[in-house]
Order: sequence, then structure tokens, then C-alpha cells
Amino acid sequence: MNHPGTWTTAVTEIQPNHVAVRGYDIAELMGNISFGQAVYLILRGELPDPSVGLLMEAILVASIDHGATPPSTLAARTVASTGANLGQSVAAGILSINRWHGGAIQDCAIQLGRIIQRAGKEQCKLQDAANAELADMKARGERMSGFGHRVHASDPRTRRLFELCREAGVAGPYLDAASAVEKFFEMTGKSLPINVDGAIGAVLAQLGFDPAVMNGVFMIARLPGLVAHVAEEQSREKPMRKIDPVHHAYDGPKSRTLK
Ligand SMILES: CC(C)(COP(=O)(O)OP(=O)(O)OC[C@H]1O[C@@H](n2cnc3c(N)ncnc32)[C@H](O)[C@@H]1OP(=O)(O)O)[C@@H](O)C(=O)NCCC(=O)NCCS
Repeated sequence: MNHPGTWTTAVTEIQPNHVAVRGYDIAELMGNISFGQAVYLILRGELPDPSVGLLMEAILVASIDHGATPPSTLAARTVASTGANLGQSVAAGILSINRWHGGAIQDCAIQLGRIIQRAGKEQCKLQDAANAELADMKARGERMSGFGHRVHASDPRTRRLFELCREAGVAGPYLDAASAVEKFFEMTGKSLPINVDGAIGAVLAQLGFDPAVMNGVFMIARLPGLVAHVAEEQSREKPMRKIDPVHHAYDGPKSRTLK
């Protein structure tokens, strides 16, 4: 019998000597499913097929870090350099993941969804719907989220994610809409390939994720990178240093392979 006024949660059940995530005993999950599958389970409520689990893993690995330049990394390092502890510094990094950093995942998924809806509503080809939608966006002075990159012209993470998506058999309209957007930009003389945020947005939308949790997937993925940067800042650098956002160099292990 619940206490009067008891509120409910469907995420995890806790009883003495019993922890069950979305109904699955946590001890049974441990050692049997990957972290990617567990993230899918907790956000969606169901376990993914193994191939979709692999895709989730790939998304988490793809976003684990992007060097010292992203705003979240600079924010975390800056806060660490003031003497803040690990939690405070990492939280500062997470606070910097918003509409313009990481947020392209969610916005791209929504915008690709609009293209798909338009094609359905106007009974036209996806390419025509993409052309019309992007022309409207340009007229409103809006950018297509998830396309273009300051550093990469052909992002290796994007290619690999789409490859894994096809291998998992979940390629579909969102990936087709993303190709239509790339074609539109090519036709207008701009090379604005889909970036990793856009690719993750397209794949998560294809998997049926609610756009409202998509930036959360990026936060989950980037957290280990932020912890590594904060720990390095605290152990290597002096407090209150001037952190140059551009002029820094890599001095970690030389390029190596898994084999
Ligand atoms: C990522 C980004 C900031 C890189 O920009 P950049 O390479 O410095 O390019 P600029 O901002 O100087 O823009 C160059 C031109 O391309 C256009 N452009 C760039 N990205 C565009 C996009 N996503 N949609 C529409 N037009 C875009 C700009 O309007 C500009 O056009 P103009 O020369 O006619 O004015 C930019 O591509 C962008 O805003 N992308 C969308 C947001 C996003 O995906 N963020 C996540 C990045 S991982």
C-alpha cells in the first residue's frame, strides 16, 4: 500500500536488495548489455536490437571528445582553472551544451522531419520538399542545423555512422532527407556536408527518439571527455591561466590502431 500522495516513476524500481531499470534486473543487465544498449533502454523504455545497440555505442563513441576547442571544453577548463572541483567544472561544460553547441542534433532532426512532412503533405519528392523548405529557411534568415563544419569537409564520424545505420537496417527517410539537403547545398554552389551533429540527429530520429532527449544523448557521450579535460587542466596547468581557445597543440600518444 503506497503512502497517500505517493508519486510514480517508470524509470527504475528500487526495493530492498532489488534494482530494476525499466523492469530489467540491473544485475542481469550488467555484463550482458553494452552501455549504448543501457542508454537506449533508459531513454526509450525498451532494449534495442543488438545492431541498434551497436549504433548507439557508435554515437556515444563518436561524441566522446573533440579536442580543446569546443565551447563546453573551454568552459569546463576555464572553471577548473579558477579552483573549482571536478563536479563544478564538468557541470560548467554541460551547461554550455545548448542550441548552438550540441543542439544542432535536436534542431537537425526537427528540420529533417519538416522536410519529410512537407513531402507527404504536398505529395512531392523529398528533394523538392527539401528545396522548398531550405528556400523558405533562407528567406527567414535561418540556417539548416547539422550542416557545415569549421574544420571538417568530410567528417569521418559521419561516414561511419551512416555506414553502421545501413548495416543495422535502419536507414530511411531521415537519412534520405539529409542527402536531399546536401544536394540542395551542392546545387546552390555551397559545399555544406552534414556534420556529426546532423548525422546523429538523423540517426536518432530514424530510430524514433523524441527530439527532446537528443541533446541529452550528446551530453551523456561528451561527459567522459569533459572529465578528462578537467583532470588534465587541474594536474598540468597553473590556476587562472589565460586559456587560448585556438593556439594549443596535441602532445598525446602518436596515431595508433586497434589491430
Ligand atoms: C558549423 C558552422 C558554424 C560553420 O560555419 P563556417 O564554416 O564558419 O561558415 P560561415 O558561418 O562563415 O558561413 C559561410 C556561408 O555558408 C552559409 N552557411 C554555413 N552553414 C550553413 C547552414 N548550416 N545552413 C545554411 N547556410 C549555411 C552561411 O550563411 C554563409 O553564407 P554567405 O557566405 O552567403 O553569407 C555553420 O556551418 C553552421 O552554422 N552550421 C549549422 C549549425 C551546426 O550544425 N552546428 C554544429 C557544428 S558541429
